[in-house]
Amino acid sequence: MSNGDNTAGPLLAGRGLVKAYGRTEALRGADVALSAGEILAVTGASGSGKSTLMHCLSGIVRPDAGSVTYAGRQLEGLPEKELSELRRTRFGVVFQFGQLIPELTAVDNVALPLMLAGTDRTESRSTAGEWLERFGVRAQGELRPGEMSGGQAQRAALARALVTGPEVVFADEPTGALDSLASEQVMTALVHTAREAGTAVLLITHDAQVAAYADREVQLRDGVVAPLGVTA
Ligand SMILES: Nc1ncnc2c1ncn2[C@@H]1O[C@H](COP(=O)(O)OP(=O)(O)OP(=O)(O)O)[C@@H](O)[C@H]1O
Ligand SMILES: [Mg+2]
Repeated sequence: MSNGDNTAGPLLAGRGLVKAYGRTEALRGADVALSAGEILAVTGASGSGKSTLMHCLSGIVRPDAGSVTYAGRQLEGLPEKELSELRRTRFGVVFQFGQLIPELTAVDNVALPLMLAGTDRTESRSTAGEWLERFGVRAQGELRPGEMSGGQAQRAALARALVTGPEVVFADEPTGALDSLASEQVMTALVHTAREAGTAVLLITHDAQVAAYADREVQLRDGVVAPLGVTA
């Protein structure tokens, strides 16, 4: 799928993003840009605003100030219907705390975005099975999220985020519940898939070994993107 008319600039950019929750300033003027096909690691201490940044960039949370531009279109200006259409067709999101649908099995969770896009159930489930396989959880396909381990659910969530072939995948600590061997397997599968499909990845992680899979790393510090290697 084309990225629209904005081939020269970044695919996705957040400029001067500000977001407060009551008196907590989660973002205080964060700037970040992601090119098409780029894998960008976002690191930073707990509470530094990483998840908030991801929620703003993916159009889930509206920033108090600043703007998010995707393929040359400002998300703030889009009607809710267009924004959700864009999120559904162009973005894949893995939340920090799972968010698989508890009533559905792993296969049906992964099949759901395809079915919503009009693919029939049998074909959707078959494709979903292949994606679970890639992430090493095909055997858990008929389990519901509550019956899976945290790491298995994370892998199913990654499969679900990638199944529709999005242009950007947002992954918030996708290996947070995995040991180092499983992290390596999941990162290898994620990077392989992203490279193959030209998918850009915004990868939030606190794990330096996971960040090392990225093309580039930025660090959030107190709600702003700080240059790497500079200590406060
Ligand atoms: N929905 C919310 N309501 C109130 N405060 C919030 C909310 N979401 C985030 N915050 C606050 O905003 C700040 C940034 O939170 P955020 O979740 O973005 O951090 P993070 O870098 O993802 O942290 P972690 O590494 O622990 O996941 C924190 O101080 C947090 O308490
Ligand atoms: Mg977080």
